[in-house]
Amino acid sequence: MATKIEVKRKPAQKTQEKNEETKTVYIMGKAHKVPAEATIMGAIEYAGYQIKRGAGCREGFCGACATVYRLPGDYKIYTGLACATLVEEGMWLAQLPAIPPQKAVYDINKLEPNVETIQVLYPEVFRCVACNTCTKACPQDLEVMDYIQAAKRGDIEMLMDLSFDCVSCGLCAIRCPAEITQMNVGLLGRRLYGKYLSKETKQLKNRINEIKEHKFDKEFKRLMEMKKDQLKKEYYARDSE
Ligand code: FES
Repeated sequence: MATKIEVKRKPAQKTQEKNEETKTVYIMGKAHKVPAEATIMGAIEYAGYQIKRGAGCREGFCGACATVYRLPGDYKIYTGLACATLVEEGMWLAQLPAIPPQKAVYDINKLEPNVETIQVLYPEVFRCVACNTCTKACPQDLEVMDYIQAAKRGDIEMLMDLSFDCVSCGLCAIRCPAEITQMNVGLLGRRLYGKYLSKETKQLKNRINEIKEHKFDKEFKRLMEMKKDQLKKEYYARDSE
């Protein structure tokens, strides 16, 4: 399977329950029976491999576990996040080496939110042939090609908006025939928007002032001193919108 996942063989941790429903998946060319409801990441670990790299949040947010696979009798190459994609019968997972893409280095304070900035920092964007492969590869179902088209027009707001949920897994970039690094272009768009185009919010200003005035120091200290398990419990019990 997976980009950047390094696996190290270690003794199998569990033995298969007799009547448990299973699926067969191929990991490094070898067939393994794994629980039918397992994620790809869970299946690799169930098969006795230890994931040393290529995993982070394990909840579909960090983009560290980009994965490619094939299915039997199907010509397509599929992509997904290993922690959030369930196994399928006959799934063939392929290990890929890490291929960090080139990332433009810039000082956001010296840029302007327009198409010239895109031309200078990511000229490859203009090689886009609108094949839509990036959109099909995106495990977040983002309209990747559309945000690249927005970048070509210098529409920074749309570039920000359509790329907002990108987790930078890089699957779009490894499938792109024009060798664009879509996730980095999206990141630039969000930074430009945040710096130059977004409206100032009073609430944010107030909150920054409160932080500067040490209003939350006690609470930060309490969190920093917390044990990992306690912190986890509190995180999942938090109020969120
Ligand atoms: S481990 Fe973070 S997205 Fe999969």
